[in-house]
Amino acid sequence: MNVKCTIAFPEICRLEKVGDLKKIIKDLEILDYATEGKAMGKLDGKVYFSPNTVPGDIVDLRLVKKRSSFSEGRVIKYHRFSEKRIDPFCKHFELCGGCQWQSVSYSEQLVFKENQVGETLRRIGGLEKVKVEPIVGSPLDKEYRNKMEFSFSNSRWLTQEEIESGERFDRNALGFHIPGRYDKVLDLNECHLQDLNSNRIRNRIRSFARNSELPFYDIHKHEGFWRIMMLRNNSQGEWLLHFQFGYQDEGTISDLAELIKTEFPEITSACYSINQKKNDSIYDLEIKPLIGDPFIFETLGTLKFKIGPKAFFQTNLEQTKNLYQKVLEYAQFKGDELVWDLYSGVGSISLSVAGLVRKVIGIETVEMAVENARENAEINGITNAEFISGDVKDLLANREGILEENPSIVILDPPREGLHKDVCQALIDLKVEKIIYVSCKVSTQARDIKLLSESYEVQRIQPVDMFPHTHHVECVVSLELKG
Ligand SMILES: C[S@@+](CC[C@H](N)C(=O)[O-])C[C@H]1O[C@@H](n2cnc3c(N)ncnc32)[C@H](O)[C@@H]1O
Repeated sequence: MNVKCTIAFPEICRLEKVGDLKKIIKDLEILDYATEGKAMGKLDGKVYFSPNTVPGDIVDLRLVKKRSSFSEGRVIKYHRFSEKRIDPFCKHFELCGGCQWQSVSYSEQLVFKENQVGETLRRIGGLEKVKVEPIVGSPLDKEYRNKMEFSFSNSRWLTQEEIESGERFDRNALGFHIPGRYDKVLDLNECHLQDLNSNRIRNRIRSFARNSELPFYDIHKHEGFWRIMMLRNNSQGEWLLHFQFGYQDEGTISDLAELIKTEFPEITSACYSINQKKNDSIYDLEIKPLIGDPFIFETLGTLKFKIGPKAFFQTNLEQTKNLYQKVLEYAQFKGDELVWDLYSGVGSISLSVAGLVRKVIGIETVEMAVENARENAEINGITNAEFISGDVKDLLANREGILEENPSIVILDPPREGLHKDVCQALIDLKVEKIIYVSCKVSTQARDIKLLSESYEVQRIQPVDMFPHTHHVECVVSLELKG
Protein backbone atom coordinates (compact mmCIF):
# COMPACT_ATOMS: atom_id res chain seq x y z
CA MET A 1 0.00 0.00 0.00
CA ASN A 2 1.33 3.36 -1.06
CA VAL A 3 0.78 5.50 2.06
CA LYS A 4 3.19 8.39 2.25
CA CYS A 5 4.55 9.84 5.46
CA THR A 6 3.38 13.42 5.67
CA ILE A 7 6.26 14.84 7.67
CA ALA A 8 7.22 16.96 4.67
CA PHE A 9 3.90 18.78 4.84
CA PRO A 10 4.44 22.52 4.60
CA GLU A 11 2.42 23.62 7.63
CA ILE A 12 4.66 21.40 9.76
CA CYS A 13 7.82 22.92 8.37
CA ARG A 14 6.53 26.38 9.27
CA LEU A 15 5.38 25.37 12.73
CA GLU A 16 8.57 23.54 13.72
CA LYS A 17 9.72 26.51 15.77
CA VAL A 18 6.46 27.12 17.63
CA GLY A 19 7.28 25.94 21.15
CA ASP A 20 4.15 24.25 22.52
CA LEU A 21 3.04 23.08 19.11
CA LYS A 22 6.08 20.83 18.88
CA LYS A 23 4.15 18.52 21.16
CA ILE A 24 3.86 14.95 19.89
CA ILE A 25 0.78 12.81 20.58
CA LYS A 26 1.77 9.15 20.54
CA ASP A 27 -0.21 6.05 19.55
CA LEU A 28 -3.45 7.80 18.73
CA GLU A 29 -6.12 5.51 17.35
CA ILE A 30 -8.21 7.21 14.66
CA LEU A 31 -11.86 6.53 15.45
CA ASP A 32 -14.05 8.39 13.00
CA TYR A 33 -14.21 10.64 9.96
CA ALA A 34 -14.52 14.38 10.58
CA THR A 35 -15.16 17.42 8.40
CA GLU A 36 -12.89 18.99 5.75
CA GLY A 37 -11.08 15.80 4.86
CA LYS A 38 -9.85 15.10 8.38
CA ALA A 39 -10.45 12.22 10.75
CA MET A 40 -10.38 12.21 14.54
CA GLY A 41 -9.21 10.23 17.54
CA LYS A 42 -9.49 10.60 21.32
CA LEU A 43 -6.84 10.24 23.98
CA ASP A 44 -7.24 10.93 27.71
CA GLY A 45 -10.61 12.54 27.01
CA LYS A 46 -9.14 14.96 24.45
CA VAL A 47 -10.10 15.14 20.77
CA TYR A 48 -7.45 15.28 18.04
CA PHE A 49 -8.07 15.93 14.35
CA SER A 50 -5.70 15.16 11.52
CA PRO A 51 -5.74 15.04 7.72
CA ASN A 52 -4.29 11.99 5.94
CA THR A 53 -5.75 9.58 8.46
CA VAL A 54 -8.50 6.99 8.22
CA PRO A 55 -10.53 5.34 11.03
CA GLY A 56 -8.50 2.35 12.16
CA ASP A 57 -5.05 3.98 11.69
CA ILE A 58 -2.79 4.27 14.73
CA VAL A 59 -0.51 7.28 14.43
CA ASP A 60 1.83 9.72 16.13
CA LEU A 61 0.77 13.31 15.59
CA ARG A 62 2.71 16.52 15.81
CA LEU A 63 0.33 19.25 17.00
CA VAL A 64 -0.19 22.26 14.76
CA LYS A 65 -3.21 23.79 16.49
CA LYS A 66 -4.41 23.77 20.07
CA ARG A 67 -7.82 24.89 21.28
CA SER A 68 -9.55 24.28 24.61
CA SER A 69 -11.96 21.71 23.13
CA PHE A 70 -9.73 20.05 20.51
CA SER A 71 -6.28 19.96 18.94
CA GLU A 72 -5.12 19.36 15.41
CA GLY A 73 -2.00 17.58 14.27
CA ARG A 74 -0.11 16.14 11.32
CA VAL A 75 1.02 12.54 11.12
CA ILE A 76 4.69 11.98 11.70
CA LYS A 77 4.45 8.22 12.02
CA TYR A 78 1.96 5.50 11.13
CA HIS A 79 2.08 2.54 13.58
CA ARG A 80 -0.83 0.75 11.91
CA PHE A 81 -2.67 1.31 8.68
CA SER A 82 -6.44 0.90 8.77
CA GLU A 83 -7.97 -2.07 6.97
CA LYS A 84 -10.28 0.44 5.31
CA ARG A 85 -7.36 1.87 3.33
CA ILE A 86 -6.99 1.28 -0.38
CA ASP A 87 -4.23 2.42 -2.73
CA PRO A 88 -4.89 5.96 -4.01
CA PHE A 89 -5.03 6.12 -7.80
CA CYS A 90 -3.30 9.48 -8.25
CA LYS A 91 0.41 9.96 -7.78
CA HIS A 92 -0.16 13.46 -6.36
CA PHE A 93 -2.53 12.22 -3.64
CA GLU A 94 -1.97 13.90 -0.24
CA LEU A 95 0.32 16.63 -1.49
CA CYS A 96 -2.17 18.12 -3.96
CA GLY A 97 -4.96 18.62 -1.44
CA GLY A 98 -7.70 18.35 -4.09
CA CYS A 99 -8.93 14.85 -3.15
CA GLN A 100 -8.79 13.93 0.53
CA TRP A 101 -10.47 10.52 0.40
CA GLN A 102 -8.75 8.52 -2.33
CA SER A 103 -7.35 6.36 0.45
CA VAL A 104 -10.77 4.76 1.10
CA SER A 105 -13.23 3.10 -1.28
CA TYR A 106 -15.96 5.18 -2.88
CA SER A 107 -18.69 3.23 -1.06
CA GLU A 108 -16.97 4.03 2.26
CA GLN A 109 -16.83 7.74 1.32
CA LEU A 110 -20.57 7.72 0.67
CA VAL A 111 -21.43 6.24 4.07
CA PHE A 112 -19.26 8.82 5.75
CA LYS A 113 -20.69 11.76 3.77
CA GLU A 114 -24.24 10.71 4.52
CA ASN A 115 -23.46 10.51 8.26
CA GLN A 116 -21.68 13.83 8.11
CA VAL A 117 -24.76 15.57 6.66
CA GLY A 118 -26.97 14.27 9.49
CA GLU A 119 -24.41 15.12 12.15
CA THR A 120 -23.87 18.68 10.84
CA LEU A 121 -27.60 19.43 10.56
CA ARG A 122 -28.07 18.17 14.10
CA ARG A 123 -25.07 19.98 15.63
CA ILE A 124 -25.26 23.34 13.81
CA GLY A 125 -28.85 23.35 12.55
CA GLY A 126 -30.34 22.17 15.83
CA LEU A 127 -32.46 19.59 14.00
CA GLU A 128 -33.12 17.01 16.66
CA LYS A 129 -35.02 14.45 14.65
CA VAL A 130 -33.32 14.64 11.27
CA LYS A 131 -34.01 11.79 8.91
CA VAL A 132 -31.47 11.90 6.14
CA GLU A 133 -32.39 10.02 2.97
CA PRO A 134 -29.77 7.63 1.56
CA ILE A 135 -27.07 9.59 -0.28
CA VAL A 136 -27.15 9.59 -4.09
CA GLY A 137 -23.69 8.47 -5.28
CA SER A 138 -22.13 10.01 -8.37
CA PRO A 139 -22.60 7.96 -11.59
CA LEU A 140 -18.91 8.67 -12.36
CA ASP A 141 -16.28 8.68 -9.64
CA LYS A 142 -13.43 9.77 -11.94
CA GLU A 143 -13.31 12.27 -14.81
CA TYR A 144 -16.57 13.72 -13.53
CA ARG A 145 -15.62 17.42 -13.52
CA ASN A 146 -16.26 19.66 -16.50
CA LYS A 147 -14.11 22.52 -15.24
CA MET A 148 -10.63 22.82 -13.72
CA GLU A 149 -8.47 25.82 -12.96
CA PHE A 150 -4.68 25.69 -12.71
CA SER A 151 -2.24 28.33 -11.43
CA PHE A 152 1.10 29.28 -12.96
CA SER A 153 3.77 30.06 -10.40
CA ASN A 154 7.51 30.75 -10.31
CA SER A 155 7.62 29.02 -6.93
CA ARG A 156 7.17 25.32 -7.48
CA TRP A 157 6.73 23.16 -4.39
CA LEU A 158 9.61 20.71 -4.03
CA THR A 159 9.06 17.50 -2.12
CA GLN A 160 11.48 16.34 0.56
CA GLU A 161 12.86 13.73 -1.84
CA GLU A 162 13.38 16.31 -4.57
CA ILE A 163 15.25 18.61 -2.17
CA GLU A 164 17.39 15.72 -0.93
CA SER A 165 18.17 14.49 -4.46
CA GLY A 166 20.40 17.55 -5.00
CA GLU A 167 19.00 17.80 -8.54
CA ARG A 168 18.17 21.25 -9.94
CA PHE A 169 14.51 21.68 -10.80
CA ASP A 170 12.79 24.25 -12.99
CA ARG A 171 10.95 26.34 -10.39
CA ASN A 172 8.18 27.31 -12.84
CA ALA A 173 5.07 25.27 -12.14
CA LEU A 174 1.50 24.86 -13.34
CA GLY A 175 -0.97 23.11 -11.06
CA PHE A 176 -2.67 23.53 -7.70
CA HIS A 177 -1.67 25.57 -4.67
CA ILE A 178 -0.29 23.40 -1.90
CA PRO A 179 -2.72 23.28 1.08
CA GLY A 180 -1.70 25.90 3.62
CA ARG A 181 0.85 27.49 1.24
CA TYR A 182 -0.78 30.09 -1.00
CA ASP A 183 2.64 30.89 -2.49
CA LYS A 184 3.67 27.36 -3.54
CA VAL A 185 2.28 25.42 -6.48
CA LEU A 186 2.43 21.70 -7.05
CA ASP A 187 3.62 21.04 -10.62
CA LEU A 188 0.82 18.75 -11.70
CA ASN A 189 1.35 15.91 -14.16
CA GLU A 190 -1.92 14.08 -13.72
CA CYS A 191 -5.36 14.71 -12.35
CA HIS A 192 -8.20 12.19 -12.66
CA LEU A 193 -11.12 14.43 -11.92
CA GLN A 194 -11.57 15.85 -15.43
CA ASP A 195 -11.54 14.04 -18.80
CA LEU A 196 -7.91 12.89 -19.13
CA ASN A 197 -7.43 15.11 -22.18
CA SER A 198 -7.14 17.88 -19.62
CA ASN A 199 -3.72 16.49 -18.60
CA ARG A 200 -2.48 16.47 -22.18
CA ILE A 201 -3.60 20.06 -22.76
CA ARG A 202 -2.23 21.38 -19.45
CA ASN A 203 1.12 19.66 -19.74
CA ARG A 204 1.62 20.83 -23.35
CA ILE A 205 0.70 24.41 -22.54
CA ARG A 206 3.07 24.37 -19.57
CA SER A 207 5.96 23.33 -21.80
CA PHE A 208 5.01 26.06 -24.31
CA ALA A 209 4.88 28.59 -21.43
CA ARG A 210 8.29 27.49 -20.15
CA ASN A 211 9.77 27.85 -23.63
CA SER A 212 8.19 31.27 -24.10
CA GLU A 213 10.67 32.67 -21.58
CA LEU A 214 7.97 34.98 -20.24
CA PRO A 215 7.83 34.87 -16.43
CA PHE A 216 5.43 32.65 -14.50
CA TYR A 217 3.47 34.56 -11.85
CA ASP A 218 5.27 35.70 -8.71
CA ILE A 219 2.60 35.97 -6.04
CA HIS A 220 4.82 37.91 -3.63
CA LYS A 221 5.73 40.62 -6.10
CA HIS A 222 2.46 40.37 -8.04
CA GLU A 223 4.22 40.26 -11.34
CA GLY A 224 4.71 37.83 -14.21
CA PHE A 225 2.93 37.03 -17.47
CA TRP A 226 1.52 33.47 -17.07
CA ARG A 227 -1.07 33.51 -14.31
CA ILE A 228 -4.15 31.21 -14.51
CA MET A 229 -5.52 28.67 -16.99
CA MET A 230 -9.13 27.43 -16.83
CA LEU A 231 -10.27 24.41 -18.85
CA ARG A 232 -13.92 23.59 -19.42
CA ASN A 233 -15.17 20.65 -21.49
CA ASN A 234 -18.62 19.58 -22.59
CA SER A 235 -20.21 16.20 -23.25
CA GLN A 236 -19.63 16.61 -27.01
CA GLY A 237 -15.86 16.59 -26.39
CA GLU A 238 -15.35 20.31 -27.04
CA TRP A 239 -13.13 22.48 -24.85
CA LEU A 240 -13.15 26.11 -23.74
CA LEU A 241 -9.91 27.58 -22.35
CA HIS A 242 -9.57 30.87 -20.52
CA PHE A 243 -6.19 32.37 -19.58
CA GLN A 244 -5.31 35.15 -17.21
CA PHE A 245 -2.12 36.96 -18.24
CA GLY A 246 -0.36 39.63 -16.19
CA TYR A 247 0.10 41.89 -19.22
CA GLN A 248 -0.32 42.03 -22.98
CA ASP A 249 2.26 40.28 -25.16
CA GLU A 250 0.87 40.10 -28.70
CA GLY A 251 3.60 37.76 -30.02
CA THR A 252 3.27 35.10 -27.33
CA ILE A 253 -0.52 35.26 -27.30
CA SER A 254 -0.75 34.76 -31.06
CA ASP A 255 1.85 31.92 -30.93
CA LEU A 256 -0.28 30.30 -28.20
CA ALA A 257 -3.39 30.58 -30.39
CA GLU A 258 -1.47 28.96 -33.25
CA LEU A 259 -0.32 26.09 -31.04
CA ILE A 260 -3.86 25.45 -29.82
CA LYS A 261 -5.26 25.52 -33.37
CA THR A 262 -2.68 23.10 -34.73
CA GLU A 263 -2.37 20.65 -31.85
CA PHE A 264 -5.81 20.70 -30.21
CA PRO A 265 -8.68 20.80 -32.71
CA GLU A 266 -11.03 19.82 -29.85
CA ILE A 267 -10.43 23.27 -28.29
CA THR A 268 -13.20 25.10 -30.10
CA SER A 269 -13.01 28.16 -27.91
CA ALA A 270 -10.13 29.98 -26.21
CA CYS A 271 -10.05 33.45 -24.70
CA TYR A 272 -8.05 35.49 -22.23
CA SER A 273 -8.08 38.43 -19.85
CA ILE A 274 -5.33 40.74 -18.71
CA ASN A 275 -5.33 40.71 -14.93
CA GLN A 276 -3.23 43.34 -13.17
CA LYS A 277 -5.13 43.08 -9.88
CA LYS A 278 -3.83 41.27 -6.83
CA ASN A 279 -6.71 38.77 -6.83
CA ASP A 280 -7.60 36.13 -9.43
CA SER A 281 -11.30 36.90 -9.74
CA ILE A 282 -12.31 37.29 -13.38
CA TYR A 283 -15.74 38.82 -12.83
CA ASP A 284 -14.54 42.37 -13.46
CA LEU A 285 -12.12 41.50 -16.29
CA GLU A 286 -12.67 41.97 -20.01
CA ILE A 287 -12.82 38.69 -21.96
CA LYS A 288 -10.77 38.85 -25.18
CA PRO A 289 -11.23 36.20 -27.86
CA LEU A 290 -8.32 34.00 -28.95
CA ILE A 291 -10.03 31.20 -30.89
CA GLY A 292 -13.74 30.95 -31.76
CA ASP A 293 -16.45 32.47 -29.58
CA PRO A 294 -15.86 32.89 -25.84
CA PHE A 295 -18.45 30.34 -24.78
CA ILE A 296 -19.33 26.67 -25.03
CA PHE A 297 -22.67 24.81 -25.14
CA GLU A 298 -23.76 21.97 -22.88
CA THR A 299 -26.93 19.90 -22.81
CA LEU A 300 -28.70 18.91 -19.65
CA GLY A 301 -31.61 16.58 -20.37
CA THR A 302 -33.53 18.27 -23.17
CA LEU A 303 -32.13 21.74 -22.44
CA LYS A 304 -29.18 23.43 -24.11
CA PHE A 305 -27.00 25.89 -22.16
CA LYS A 306 -24.56 28.53 -23.31
CA ILE A 307 -21.75 28.90 -20.78
CA GLY A 308 -19.19 31.70 -20.83
CA PRO A 309 -15.88 31.74 -18.89
CA LYS A 310 -17.33 33.80 -16.04
CA ALA A 311 -20.46 31.73 -15.52
CA PHE A 312 -21.04 29.13 -12.82
CA PHE A 313 -22.26 25.81 -14.17
CA GLN A 314 -22.58 22.63 -12.09
CA THR A 315 -19.26 20.79 -12.47
CA ASN A 316 -20.52 17.18 -12.35
CA LEU A 317 -22.95 17.05 -15.29
CA GLU A 318 -24.26 13.49 -14.85
CA GLN A 319 -24.92 14.02 -11.16
CA THR A 320 -26.57 17.40 -11.82
CA LYS A 321 -29.41 15.51 -13.50
CA ASN A 322 -30.00 13.60 -10.24
CA LEU A 323 -29.65 16.77 -8.17
CA TYR A 324 -32.23 18.71 -10.19
CA GLN A 325 -34.52 15.67 -10.23
CA LYS A 326 -34.54 15.86 -6.42
CA VAL A 327 -35.40 19.55 -6.55
CA LEU A 328 -38.39 18.75 -8.78
CA GLU A 329 -39.44 15.83 -6.59
CA TYR A 330 -39.30 17.94 -3.41
CA ALA A 331 -41.07 20.91 -5.04
CA GLN A 332 -44.10 18.89 -6.26
CA PHE A 333 -45.17 21.66 -8.63
CA LYS A 334 -48.86 21.90 -9.45
CA GLY A 335 -48.49 24.17 -12.48
CA ASP A 336 -49.72 27.56 -11.25
CA GLU A 337 -46.72 28.57 -9.15
CA LEU A 338 -44.56 31.67 -9.30
CA VAL A 339 -41.07 30.40 -8.42
CA TRP A 340 -38.02 32.42 -7.40
CA ASP A 341 -34.71 30.74 -8.25
CA LEU A 342 -32.23 32.66 -6.10
CA TYR A 343 -28.53 32.42 -7.11
CA SER A 344 -29.53 31.22 -10.56
CA GLY A 345 -26.18 31.07 -12.44
CA VAL A 346 -26.82 30.55 -16.15
CA GLY A 347 -30.43 29.61 -15.35
CA SER A 348 -30.06 25.84 -15.24
CA ILE A 349 -32.51 25.28 -12.37
CA SER A 350 -34.93 28.01 -13.57
CA LEU A 351 -35.12 26.54 -17.04
CA SER A 352 -35.45 22.99 -15.70
CA VAL A 353 -38.57 23.99 -13.73
CA ALA A 354 -40.04 26.52 -16.20
CA GLY A 355 -42.12 23.94 -18.08
CA LEU A 356 -43.81 22.85 -14.81
CA VAL A 357 -44.85 26.22 -13.38
CA ARG A 358 -46.59 29.48 -14.31
CA LYS A 359 -43.48 31.62 -14.10
CA VAL A 360 -39.91 31.51 -12.75
CA ILE A 361 -37.70 34.47 -11.83
CA GLY A 362 -33.95 33.91 -11.47
CA ILE A 363 -31.67 36.27 -9.54
CA GLU A 364 -27.92 36.18 -10.11
CA THR A 365 -25.12 38.61 -9.39
CA VAL A 366 -22.79 37.86 -12.34
CA GLU A 367 -24.01 39.98 -15.24
CA MET A 368 -22.55 37.67 -17.89
CA ALA A 369 -24.30 34.63 -16.34
CA VAL A 370 -27.59 36.57 -16.40
CA GLU A 371 -27.05 37.38 -20.09
CA ASN A 372 -26.31 33.68 -20.70
CA ALA A 373 -29.45 32.70 -18.75
CA ARG A 374 -31.65 35.01 -20.87
CA GLU A 375 -30.09 33.63 -24.04
CA ASN A 376 -30.54 30.08 -22.71
CA ALA A 377 -34.25 30.75 -22.22
CA GLU A 378 -34.46 31.98 -25.81
CA ILE A 379 -32.41 29.09 -27.24
CA ASN A 380 -34.78 26.64 -25.52
CA GLY A 381 -37.94 28.52 -26.53
CA ILE A 382 -38.83 29.25 -22.88
CA THR A 383 -40.89 32.40 -22.43
CA ASN A 384 -41.97 32.19 -18.77
CA ALA A 385 -38.50 32.65 -17.22
CA GLU A 386 -37.07 36.07 -16.39
CA PHE A 387 -33.63 36.87 -14.99
CA ILE A 388 -32.58 39.81 -12.87
CA SER A 389 -28.99 40.75 -12.20
CA GLY A 390 -27.99 41.87 -8.73
CA ASP A 391 -27.30 40.83 -5.17
CA VAL A 392 -30.13 38.71 -3.72
CA LYS A 393 -29.85 40.59 -0.42
CA ASP A 394 -30.37 44.01 -2.03
CA LEU A 395 -33.10 42.90 -4.39
CA LEU A 396 -35.10 41.26 -1.59
CA ALA A 397 -34.65 44.30 0.64
CA ASN A 398 -36.08 46.55 -2.04
CA ARG A 399 -38.62 44.53 -3.98
CA GLU A 400 -39.60 46.29 -7.17
CA GLY A 401 -41.16 45.45 -10.53
CA ILE A 402 -41.56 41.72 -11.10
CA LEU A 403 -40.37 40.98 -7.55
CA GLU A 404 -43.42 42.68 -6.04
CA GLU A 405 -45.58 39.56 -6.41
CA ASN A 406 -45.01 36.98 -3.65
CA PRO A 407 -43.70 33.63 -4.91
CA SER A 408 -45.23 30.33 -3.79
CA ILE A 409 -41.94 28.44 -3.92
CA VAL A 410 -38.35 29.69 -3.49
CA ILE A 411 -35.37 27.65 -4.67
CA LEU A 412 -32.04 28.61 -3.12
CA ASP A 413 -28.62 27.55 -4.42
CA PRO A 414 -26.14 30.00 -2.87
CA PRO A 415 -22.33 29.76 -2.99
CA ARG A 416 -20.44 28.04 -0.16
CA GLU A 417 -20.83 31.01 2.21
CA GLY A 418 -24.58 30.36 2.30
CA LEU A 419 -27.19 33.06 2.85
CA HIS A 420 -26.66 36.53 4.25
CA LYS A 421 -28.65 36.84 7.50
CA ASP A 422 -30.75 39.59 5.87
CA VAL A 423 -31.74 37.10 3.16
CA CYS A 424 -32.83 34.62 5.85
CA GLN A 425 -34.88 37.38 7.49
CA ALA A 426 -36.43 38.38 4.15
CA LEU A 427 -37.44 34.73 3.59
CA ILE A 428 -38.92 34.54 7.10
CA ASP A 429 -40.96 37.71 6.41
CA LEU A 430 -41.99 36.40 2.99
CA LYS A 431 -43.87 33.41 4.46
CA VAL A 432 -43.55 31.42 1.27
CA GLU A 433 -45.26 27.98 1.23
CA LYS A 434 -42.12 26.04 0.41
CA ILE A 435 -38.35 26.55 0.19
CA ILE A 436 -36.01 24.14 -1.54
CA TYR A 437 -32.46 24.84 -0.34
CA VAL A 438 -29.63 23.34 -2.43
CA SER A 439 -26.21 23.75 -0.85
CA CYS A 440 -22.62 22.69 -1.50
CA LYS A 441 -21.63 23.39 2.14
CA VAL A 442 -23.80 21.75 4.75
CA SER A 443 -22.37 23.72 7.69
CA THR A 444 -23.56 27.07 6.27
CA GLN A 445 -26.82 25.47 5.13
CA ALA A 446 -27.37 24.19 8.69
CA ARG A 447 -26.64 27.66 10.11
CA ASP A 448 -29.20 29.21 7.73
CA ILE A 449 -31.81 26.53 8.45
CA LYS A 450 -31.51 27.31 12.14
CA LEU A 451 -32.51 30.91 11.39
CA LEU A 452 -35.22 29.90 8.92
CA SER A 453 -36.72 27.50 11.45
CA GLU A 454 -38.40 30.50 13.09
CA SER A 455 -41.03 30.19 10.29
CA TYR A 456 -40.22 26.98 8.43
CA GLU A 457 -40.03 23.29 9.23
CA VAL A 458 -37.62 20.90 7.54
CA GLN A 459 -39.45 18.19 5.61
CA ARG A 460 -36.84 16.20 3.69
CA ILE A 461 -33.06 16.04 3.45
CA GLN A 462 -31.21 14.53 0.50
CA PRO A 463 -27.40 14.38 0.30
CA VAL A 464 -26.07 14.12 -3.25
CA ASP A 465 -22.40 13.44 -3.88
CA MET A 466 -21.27 15.79 -6.63
CA PHE A 467 -17.56 15.55 -5.74
CA PRO A 468 -16.21 11.99 -5.25
CA HIS A 469 -12.85 11.67 -3.41
CA THR A 470 -13.14 15.18 -1.96
CA HIS A 471 -14.67 16.11 1.39
CA HIS A 472 -17.41 18.15 -0.30
CA VAL A 473 -21.02 17.04 -0.36
CA GLU A 474 -24.13 18.67 -1.82
CA CYS A 475 -27.41 18.62 0.10
CA VAL A 476 -31.01 19.39 -0.88
CA VAL A 477 -33.37 20.31 1.96
CA SER A 478 -37.08 21.07 1.61
CA LEU A 479 -38.73 23.37 4.15
CA GLU A 480 -42.41 24.20 4.57
CA LEU A 481 -44.10 27.14 6.23
CA LYS A 482 -45.07 26.25 9.80
CA GLY A 483 -48.82 25.79 10.19
C1 LIG B 1 -23.75 27.43 -6.40
S1 LIG B 1 -24.00 28.52 -7.74
C2 LIG B 1 -25.60 28.03 -8.31
C3 LIG B 1 -25.89 28.29 -9.76
C4 LIG B 1 -27.13 27.61 -10.34
N1 LIG B 1 -28.23 27.54 -9.42
C5 LIG B 1 -26.79 26.21 -10.85
O1 LIG B 1 -27.33 25.22 -10.36
O2 LIG B 1 -25.97 26.13 -11.77
C6 LIG B 1 -24.20 30.01 -6.91
C7 LIG B 1 -24.46 31.21 -7.82
O3 LIG B 1 -24.74 32.34 -7.00
C8 LIG B 1 -24.17 33.50 -7.58
N2 LIG B 1 -24.08 34.47 -6.47
C9 LIG B 1 -23.14 34.53 -5.52
N3 LIG B 1 -23.42 35.50 -4.64
C10 LIG B 1 -24.58 36.07 -5.04
C11 LIG B 1 -25.40 37.12 -4.53
N4 LIG B 1 -25.05 37.76 -3.41
N5 LIG B 1 -26.52 37.44 -5.18
C12 LIG B 1 -26.88 36.77 -6.32
N6 LIG B 1 -26.14 35.76 -6.86
C13 LIG B 1 -25.01 35.41 -6.22
C14 LIG B 1 -22.88 33.00 -8.16
O4 LIG B 1 -22.40 33.86 -9.16
C15 LIG B 1 -23.28 31.62 -8.70
O5 LIG B 1 -23.70 31.71 -10.04
